Amino acid sequence: MKIQPSDRFVHQAEGIWKRLNMWIDKARGRKKDIINLGIGCPDLRPATILTDRLSEFVKDTSLYGYPFSELELNNEISNWYKRRFNVDIDPIREVLHTIGAQEGLTNLPVSLLDSEDILLYPDPGYPLYGYLASFAYSRGYGYPLREENEYQIEFDRIPPDILKRSKLMIVNYPSNPLATTTTREALTQLVDFARRNDILIIYDNTYCEITFDGYVAPSILEIDGAKDIAVELHSFSKTYNLPGIRLGFFAGNREIIKILSDVKSNIDFGVFKPFQRLGAFALKSNEVREEVRKTVETYRRRRNIVVEQLKNCGIEFNVPKATFYIFAKLPKHIENDEEFVYNLVLNTGVVVLPGSSFGKNGQGHIRISLVQDENTISTAIEKINQFLTKC
Ligand SMILES: Cc1ncc(COP(=O)(O)O)c(C=O)c1O
Repeated sequence: MKIQPSDRFVHQAEGIWKRLNMWIDKARGRKKDIINLGIGCPDLRPATILTDRLSEFVKDTSLYGYPFSELELNNEISNWYKRRFNVDIDPIREVLHTIGAQEGLTNLPVSLLDSEDILLYPDPGYPLYGYLASFAYSRGYGYPLREENEYQIEFDRIPPDILKRSKLMIVNYPSNPLATTTTREALTQLVDFARRNDILIIYDNTYCEITFDGYVAPSILEIDGAKDIAVELHSFSKTYNLPGIRLGFFAGNREIIKILSDVKSNIDFGVFKPFQRLGAFALKSNEVREEVRKTVETYRRRRNIVVEQLKNCGIEFNVPKATFYIFAKLPKHIENDEEFVYNLVLNTGVVVLPGSSFGKNGQGHIRISLVQDENTISTAIEKINQFLTKC
């Protein structure tokens, strides 16, 4: 018997990561040194102050029961919202921790959508967004983010028949893969649009702390009326270099939080309590804040190196004010971004992601992740440059 994934999961099982790994193996077979700027996972290690605290928390045997929400984490999330965004958040009813942002992103559409409903998501956008509607047995519509409009949402481009059936919309700024940011004015328009059209919003603010050049990322919950329709999603993976502990959280609309909490209570019991304690500590500690500042400075320096070197490559890109990605447009004569990446990996060992893996509007681009040290990144861009001259 041939065992196959369900139709809902088959696209994911055959996705870009599988192909990329095959190409990497092939390049290794050709004795190429691999420099991986494809994956969006921090290479930086968590601060010692965090790992020291975690060692203490795991020794506390009272924390080994089913890990329902730790009030301490909820309180610190609420305090952090007040300090960081001047937003009041009820720690009991307006917060829910998740098993990484990814789990929240997956289970919320499943909890809210019926088969007639449509999920709106950005294209280009984080690849998981494109699968979520099918997980929820509903339909998805990738709203285009176009360079001509500085990758901002063009509400009037969403067809009326799609709009009528749209129940949930995912919005992500600072954006993966685009590295584009937003403004409070744009978020005000978004909240107005969502309220007028009875659409709920998941605002994925995973990268809000990785910003440069004086840009401070807003929260959608700063906008009047946002709590009526929105929840905001955060992750500990990128800000604190803790992708392995799988901790994220939602804050915002209490009805949405209640629904997800009820659904999750049948699926999982949350994240290991020592990890929740660590999250609470990370949010409140001044020393950790200083470590985050150093992390951001590291990404800023790497960004500057790539920006300087890419200028000579005949590649167009915007200088990002946030995230650790650079989304770059390949020269016009290169028609197929995936084929370009395949040849790049095989001939140079440098791995980036084809823009089309983020949706059809990503075609003709590559995403470069700043997840290697400065020298390695510099070597990789030099190799990309040399390879481009031969294309
Ligand atoms: C935009 C965006 N949202 C969510 C996630 C998931 O983060 P987590 O590690 O918390 O699941 C990622 C991870 O790359 C991301 O880029």
